[in-house]
Amino acid sequence: MSNYHIKNLEEYFQVYRKSVRNPEVFWEEIAEEHFVWRKRWDKVLQWDFTKPEVKWFENAQLNITENCLDRHLSIRGDKTAILFEPNNPEEEAQHITYFQLHERVSKMANVLKEHGIKKGDRICIYLPMIPELAVAVLACARIGAIHSVVFAGFSSIALSTRINDCDCKMVITSDGSYRGAKTIDLKGIVDVALEDCPGIETTLVVKRTGVKVEMKEGRDKWLQPLLDEAHADCPVEVMDAEDPLFILYTSGSTGKPKGMVHTCAGYMVYTAYTFKNIFQYRENDVYWCTADVGWITGHSYILYGPLANGATTVMFEGVPSYPDFGRFWEIVEKHKVNQFYTAPTAIRALAKENLSFVEKYDLSSLKVLGSVGEPINEEAWHWYNNNVGKKKSPIVDTWWQTETGGILISPIPYVTPTTPTYATLPFIGIQPTLMDENEKEIAGNQVEGRLCIKFPWPSMARTIWGNHDRYRDTYFSAYKNKYFTGDGAMRDEVGYYRITGRVDDVIIVSGHNLGTAPIEDAINEHPAIAESAIVGFPHDIKGNALYGFVILKETGQKRDRDNLRKEINQQITEQIGPIAKLDKIQFVVGLPKTRSGKIMRRILRKIACNDTENLGDISTLLNPEVVESIIKEALK
Ligand code: WTA
Repeated sequence: MSNYHIKNLEEYFQVYRKSVRNPEVFWEEIAEEHFVWRKRWDKVLQWDFTKPEVKWFENAQLNITENCLDRHLSIRGDKTAILFEPNNPEEEAQHITYFQLHERVSKMANVLKEHGIKKGDRICIYLPMIPELAVAVLACARIGAIHSVVFAGFSSIALSTRINDCDCKMVITSDGSYRGAKTIDLKGIVDVALEDCPGIETTLVVKRTGVKVEMKEGRDKWLQPLLDEAHADCPVEVMDAEDPLFILYTSGSTGKPKGMVHTCAGYMVYTAYTFKNIFQYRENDVYWCTADVGWITGHSYILYGPLANGATTVMFEGVPSYPDFGRFWEIVEKHKVNQFYTAPTAIRALAKENLSFVEKYDLSSLKVLGSVGEPINEEAWHWYNNNVGKKKSPIVDTWWQTETGGILISPIPYVTPTTPTYATLPFIGIQPTLMDENEKEIAGNQVEGRLCIKFPWPSMARTIWGNHDRYRDTYFSAYKNKYFTGDGAMRDEVGYYRITGRVDDVIIVSGHNLGTAPIEDAINEHPAIAESAIVGFPHDIKGNALYGFVILKETGQKRDRDNLRKEINQQITEQIGPIAKLDKIQFVVGLPKTRSGKIMRRILRKIACNDTENLGDISTLLNPEVVESIIKEALK
């Protein structure tokens, strides 16, 4: 038990040293003492970053749902596993116990089996934040089907791309979804997507909003009647440690989204261990992460990590602004939430509103506050600390990625002294390093460089679905024998890390990763547009917003520019989703390019940030004259 729950800084350093000096012994102990295995591993770790190949707990057998559900039944079967808070505060919250969740997952798993789903099949889940989403995810895991959850804010085209990329056989969706005052026609979006997805045999539809939807004969089925008939017992599929558990797509700077593949054992061990420590979860706590299960944060820290620890995890269907800006705090008071985990963009949006929205509620239950998804700026950090935490709840600024599966750099609350905007110290077992332009490790403190990780950790993604070369090229080719994160970071005089942001062409808007290339592709499909380039610029609430530089085709025709701007955003909404819409669109005569034809985004970024004093040397450009004209007409 000794190393599972770290309680002070001395212990952190001691356990950290052990985890780094002898990782295999360390992780073996954690795995042995805290999880249920069907068969023990032959080898703890096998790795080679040049291939790259990483295997943890090789040849062990397990099922993650046995660890998240079955093993809790005898000790906490009546404890609430999922506390569902609906979009509408008038609708009653649901307390789903471990017994009930186990039964619902087993029934759902049997429904999947009856529809021919077998171990290794891919299932796309496109659902709002309702209990059925958790049930569907766990049901897949129970029978060894690989879930691919797609965030239910993505468009039909984005959905069909993801369904086809990993050849899903089935989609689980709902008639509609509620988001604040809006009702969204999810089934309609799925219907359009499926016109391009010949591999889908069955669609299971949850009834949530009761709106009328088309049900395609032979393909679409209402889920509830099937569940009513299903058997309540479903033995688990015994999985190998390295069998895929799920695929989750994330944007790259170029090309199609990357289907990151996570495997069973390492992912389970690492998400459970980080959850326990980084949120200091105790048996009767109520934990709430406001993310959507459509993102990695929801996978690891709404579902798998908390459930593996027998926690009570809140699932919230709605938005922070409905029915008013006090909704988060109302929920904290109502359910006496102890750990609250959200994104800086939500904090900034709420900090803009009247303080009375926070002050109205009793937040004294809170013990730990978390932040994730993008750097948290100093102002937001203090607002969160003063008004939500009342200066008594430590803020854990947790840095990690879809690819890392779990949190890699973060304070441990009540253990690591926090500093605003710093993710502080590597978590147990994590060996970060900063690299310079010459691919050398930067030694010492008070330095800045590109963030890499030198040694494998259990929950790292193993590959990109169907494209192992891309996995190697993206993460393991920039620096020899190191995982490259794509982020820049500083290390201060005491060794604390501060993440400074992406160093590639991924832009984080409201905590969502957006690659520039897919957005540019979407814009360029517009018949009036010749070429475009997207860059980020700072935004009060979203952190970054998107600025598009667009070249129109020479048609001799005059077009209304405001209409064109609307059409461009419409086009992006259809291809990707509303999250990728541009805040500013400037029509330009040309884009600054190098002699080899590459767009010089560095210059465009400066123009978008209104920082045109130090553009650096532009004389080597192919077309230096366009820079002047873009600056002259830049949008203020
Ligand atoms: C950024 C989200 C600063 C970072 C879990 C990373 C952060 C990307 C932080 C991954 C943080 C995440 N401070 N930046 N605490 N957390 N990021 O895949 O740029 O959606 O590479 O995973 O978000 O985003 P993803």
